[in-house]
Amino acid sequence: RDVERSRGLGDVYKRQTVDEVKTYIDMMALHNMNRFHWHITEDQGWRLEIKKYPKLTEIGSKRTETVIGRNSGEYDGKPYGGFYTQEEAKEIVAYAAERYITVIPEIDLPGHMQAALAAYPELGCTGGPYEVWRQWGVSEDVLCAGNDQVLKFLEDVYAELIEIFPSEYIHVGGDECPKSSWKECPLCQKRIREEGLKADKNHSAEEKLQSYFVQRMEKYLSEKHGKKIIGWDEILEGGLAPSATVMSWRGEEGGIAAANMGHEAIMTPGSGGMYIDQFQGDPKIEPVSIGGSDPLSRVYAYNPIPDTLVATGKANLIKGVQTNLWSEYMYNTDLLEYRAYPRVLALAEIGWTPLALSLIHISEPT
Ligand code: ACM
Ligand code: ZN
Repeated sequence: RDVERSRGLGDVYKRQTVDEVKTYIDMMALHNMNRFHWHITEDQGWRLEIKKYPKLTEIGSKRTETVIGRNSGEYDGKPYGGFYTQEEAKEIVAYAAERYITVIPEIDLPGHMQAALAAYPELGCTGGPYEVWRQWGVSEDVLCAGNDQVLKFLEDVYAELIEIFPSEYIHVGGDECPKSSWKECPLCQKRIREEGLKADKNHSAEEKLQSYFVQRMEKYLSEKHGKKIIGWDEILEGGLAPSATVMSWRGEEGGIAAANMGHEAIMTPGSGGMYIDQFQGDPKIEPVSIGGSDPLSRVYAYNPIPDTLVATGKANLIKGVQTNLWSEYMYNTDLLEYRAYPRVLALAEIGWTPLALSLIHISEPT
């Protein structure tokens, strides 16, 4: 099925419907999964209504066309977009809660913000113009970390977000934020000077600026709203915010480092088979994907509690394990479901089954 629907704005928009999201939640509930991490903003689209900043969806939820395949340089010429209203998001949160699932929203900052910049170009270092990105990857255009208006914008956006999502944890992203625009930007450089952020042998001044920025958001969310933040493992670079939980995706090292520092961590390493947007079968016959290979046996074989943390007595700080299903190559619901299952069912098993028992299950020939 191809989910195509008109929202009455004269274009054709596509996104997963509320009912489809509910179907994933049903599947999660059936398999004892209890957290749904919902990544709702990207360079290629902003997918949640924010009442104070209507252009985030009026402009930021739509792109004029999409690159064909893996950044082939050719485009499909078809408008794409769509977003969830706050009422729809609340409906999903309530539906999940009835099934003992907490939805943890992610607004990814300060990178992966090109769609927001298209809507509000004054939030970027150059002032734009920017477009909602038509291709995949990591945009060099990110939020300006030297502009107080940006912090005000984020506080306003998160204030609306936490009214919709009562989760005690809020995901602030923090991954893949190129520093090229910050290096050139007078405001970012002024902030670096004023805050006394200095490069050291491990981190550049701009990496320290990213930490400063994430820590400002952590302070706001914890002091004003009593929330804990989760960030991708880049938030370790240049100093970890006090209450932060680290989501370890570039291997297990970030999660191990966080736990050894007394912070909570969630394991979702690509090296452990947790990126289920990768191929699960023969890449020669499967539809295009981001690449890489994650057969069911690999997901099943992952042990989310590294031995080294058992040795240091910090294993209890591993709060959970997650698979990631990034959907840029999931052109329709059938393909998305094919990639999700049965691998998320293996996730449920590795989350709940004692290691000695789960090892017995690995019987798929390799
Ligand atoms: C990520 O996969 N960029 C967290
Ligand atoms: Zn800047």
